[in-house]
Amino acid sequence: MNRSEKVSVRLVPWSAADMPVLERSNTPEMTLYLGGPESPEKLAERQTRFLRLWESGEARMFTIRVDGIPDAVGSVGYWTTTWHDAHVYESGWSVATPYQGRGFASKGLAACLNHAADDGNRDALVAFPRIDNGASNALCRSLGFELAGVEDFEYPPGNPIQVHAWRFDLAGLRAARRGVNHRF
Ligand SMILES: CC(C)(COP(=O)(O)OP(=O)(O)OC[C@H]1O[C@@H](n2cnc3c(N)ncnc32)[C@H](O)[C@@H]1OP(=O)(O)O)[C@@H](O)C(=O)NCCC(=O)NCCS
Repeated sequence: MNRSEKVSVRLVPWSAADMPVLERSNTPEMTLYLGGPESPEKLAERQTRFLRLWESGEARMFTIRVDGIPDAVGSVGYWTTTWHDAHVYESGWSVATPYQGRGFASKGLAACLNHAADDGNRDALVAFPRIDNGASNALCRSLGFELAGVEDFEYPPGNPIQVHAWRFDLAGLRAARRGVNHRF
């Protein structure tokens, strides 16, 4: 399969059976820009948190599914946060090493943005890839995020890094998807 092939990507809400998706993304290679692999305890906490935050409505995490591939190829989602005093969503994503370079993150994140526009009520979504995370920065740029600048961040907590702050205009996407004409 290569990038030019037309593949259909689906987002499936996070479930109790999705721990293996977290495990596949917890390798040294996959966590190069994320402070390294998490302990089994931290990973289990993450699994519990994804389910709890879905229940409370504070997060929408999904697995990315591709027709013809039995395993989930990765994950994508968004959660509520505050950024420069604005109530926004933050997004994160991951595509397992064997499935990278085929446009799955791009299609998965596009579907995630549509979900946040249709089901969410916040007007912007932000993402903070480390400045040297080439693939994630390319992903934001190609999907229409605007680069707001370089910011100091901690990920994981206690580990200072510099990130690109990317902002996506969810209100604009929402209006476009509802066919609203914003030219007053
Ligand atoms: C980031 C990640 C999800 C990308 O997944 P992917 O399915 O390979 O991405 P895609 O094939 O959809 O490509 C997305 C874009 O990145 C570009 N890209 C891919 N790998 C790249 C690299 N190493 N350097 C620069 N650009 C790269 C692609 O060309 C594409 O850009 P385009 O749309 O302008 O053509 C994957 O590399 C990953 O999971 N990395 C580890 C986890 C991680 O860093 N998560 C993000 C934390 S912010």
